[in-house]
Amino acid sequence: MNMLITGGSGFIGTNFIRYLLLDSDFDGRIINVDLLTYAGNPENLKDIEKDFPGRYAFIQADICDKEKLASIFNEFDIDTVCHFAAESHVDRSIVAPDAFIQTNIIGTFNLLQIVRDRQKQISRFHHISTDEVFGSLGADGFFTETTPYDPSSPYSASKASSDHLVRAYHRTYGLPATISNCSNNYGPYQFPEKLLPLMILNALEGKALPVYGDGKNIRDWLYVEDHCQAIWEIIKRGKTGETYNIGGNCEMENLSLVQMLCDMVDELAPAKHKTSRRELITFVKDRPGHDRRYAIDASKLKNDLGWTPKTDLKSGLQKTIAWYMEHPDWVKSVKTGEYRNWIKQHYK
Ligand code: NAD
Ligand code: DAU
Repeated sequence: MNMLITGGSGFIGTNFIRYLLLDSDFDGRIINVDLLTYAGNPENLKDIEKDFPGRYAFIQADICDKEKLASIFNEFDIDTVCHFAAESHVDRSIVAPDAFIQTNIIGTFNLLQIVRDRQKQISRFHHISTDEVFGSLGADGFFTETTPYDPSSPYSASKASSDHLVRAYHRTYGLPATISNCSNNYGPYQFPEKLLPLMILNALEGKALPVYGDGKNIRDWLYVEDHCQAIWEIIKRGKTGETYNIGGNCEMENLSLVQMLCDMVDELAPAKHKTSRRELITFVKDRPGHDRRYAIDASKLKNDLGWTPKTDLKSGLQKTIAWYMEHPDWVKSVKTGEYRNWIKQHYK
């Protein structure tokens, strides 16, 4: 298998590449194509680049650059695509949606066009999407694969658009595509703009913990390694043309989650004068269009492919907090922007 992974230097992509090469039965070659926006950090895969010279290659490229992409498909004889690359942060999409439209919609369209031109050599195009395309749930119910799309933010609207394009290319041109829609991932290597890494680092540094609105919005939390296993199962055994929901079975109100995290940080790294990190919680202005509740019914993945999440929230959070505490160099590099200098020296 010659697998093109887009966005492999971001949070989930990094974890997926590490999982494939270090922990799974994958025996092929990976070509990671990433533009290295603020969210892409090639330091995450420095050891992989060194340890797997014949099985891992990195190319800095924009998925909106069709010519460059086409040359990569030819040079590396790509037969499988796993498409992560995206602008992924909802708050950024509210402030500046342009890059979301460009990368998430036009970038996906470019990839589909290239794959369409090479139908005979492509055995799978897997598209990574989000539960946010379904919009907001009330107090009851779950998103299933047939829930109608109803996105609320420019981010989720752009992801919904890319999902529609992938599905259309399957139906119209017979592209061997699969799609997965998952809930909130957490774990190592996540950029500290997202709720959990932001709260972990702020709690460790004694900074305010900003909770949007009343803190009663509910998200389902999926440990990133569980997500990676699900994606690999879908690529290997999922049926083309199908969509699979991936969830963590861990629904939680934001405020309760942050309180739980404060207590864990207090235990792992007691604060000076034994104060509780809960005192740092600060309610701030709500996110516009903030979806109230997400919850995933992942029974299709369980019934068809035998996948269920292995990590409960408590142990996943413990592992995640420990990872951030054990990687001060990574944290410093990301927070000070040093990793951008590393990129300039190595890739530009
Ligand atoms: P991320 O922001 O951490 O990483 C995105 C990566 O894509 C970065 O490495 C970035 O450099 C790269 N990229 C951005 N624009 C690009 C372009 N034009 N060309 C090439 N590369 C580009 O995102 P993530 O959290 O790892 O999410 C990965 C995928 O999973 C996204 O498609 C996202 O929508 C989806 N998703 C994420 C979550 C989550 O909780 N993080 C949940 C559901 C779905
Ligand atoms: O559901 C899947 C989605 O999860 C992915 O598609 C997105 O790429 C990913 O960013 C994530 O989106 P969210 O908006 O749910 O994640 P975020 O970490 O930004 O916020 C999680 C919840 O916490 C949400 O209800 C908003 C709230 N929040 C977030 C931040 C950053 C706060 O209360 N305070 C904060 O500072």
